[in-house]
Amino acid sequence: MTLADLSPSQIDRVLARAYHLKQYTLPWMGPWQKRPLHAVGQTLRFKTIALLFSKRSTRTRISAETAALMLGGQALFLGKEDIQLGVNESVRDSGRVIGGLCQGIFARVGEHEEIEELAKYSPVPVLNALSSLWHPTQVLADLLTLHEQAHLFSGSEPPPPPNGQTELRSLPKLQPLTIAYVGDSANVLHDMLVTYPRLGHKLRVASPENAKYRAPKPVWDKVVKLQCDKDIVWTADPKEAVNGADLVVTDTWISMGQEAEKEQRLKDFQGYQITEQLCREGGAKENWKFMHCLPRKPDEVDDEVFYGPRSMVFEESDNRKWTIMALFDLLFGQWLIPKVKQ
Ligand code: CP
Ligand code: NVA
Repeated sequence: MTLADLSPSQIDRVLARAYHLKQYTLPWMGPWQKRPLHAVGQTLRFKTIALLFSKRSTRTRISAETAALMLGGQALFLGKEDIQLGVNESVRDSGRVIGGLCQGIFARVGEHEEIEELAKYSPVPVLNALSSLWHPTQVLADLLTLHEQAHLFSGSEPPPPPNGQTELRSLPKLQPLTIAYVGDSANVLHDMLVTYPRLGHKLRVASPENAKYRAPKPVWDKVVKLQCDKDIVWTADPKEAVNGADLVVTDTWISMGQEAEKEQRLKDFQGYQITEQLCREGGAKENWKFMHCLPRKPDEVDDEVFYGPRSMVFEESDNRKWTIMALFDLLFGQWLIPKVKQ
């Protein structure tokens, strides 16, 4: 449902698997010549994964469909116009029925309770492809990107190109970072809140004072339970948030389903746009980098930052595929991630 459900060592395991799958698949990553794709292990062979998406998606959907294929399985895209769910059939019955016909469910829903209900009644694992509260697969892709680019933060030399190398490389280590998030308290931030502090990073968040722009109770309860709150500073001042930051992150100010609030939100987030000036005045580290889950609107980040050398946004979107593939492999293919009791 969220990365809060995984221990730090389980998160590391998913990231390590994602990095290996990426190396197996991309020619320029090294071992591909000697270890072609079938060496990945076709753990979804003869398996079907239902992609139950009630909201739009580019990255998550494409990653899931292509990942299932590469693992030897079949993804079945079920949009909200396609099936009985929500019109003629309850979430409970749909969870039981679809879970009885497929070997895994990857679901993008509106209210988070919907995916909890699906998981409760599905006989097979259910993985969250985004809900009102959480977006776990996004933060996994961000983590993979940060590890791959760890040298940018440590100032060390980049790893040598893997020319001719046939051994799988292990994921580069990432030093503790100060990570700033400036914007709406939405699903992506919520998974950052329950994940980054457990992995040794500090978080500095800026969002407007209004309670609707601050983490809702079910999210904050998990943050506290996992003792992440001690490493989180929360302010209404974007400049204060970016102070000392290695990495600055934002997301849309108007998440899917909030379109009616657009005018109010654009007003409330004035001053929150990520720019060079904001980060310079706020005292971000000289070499700060930028992340955004996409899709992006220029309101929340200007073109100079978004398309400039600080930006890692397209590396993040590439890495959606390998992290989702690793989760499909471990969760639906090998059934290797038991639920952690909290
Ligand atoms: N970042 C993300 O989840 O993108 P999509 O909505 O396009 O899947
Ligand atoms: N917070 C955004 C993320 C999109 C990937 C939304 O929910 O629309």
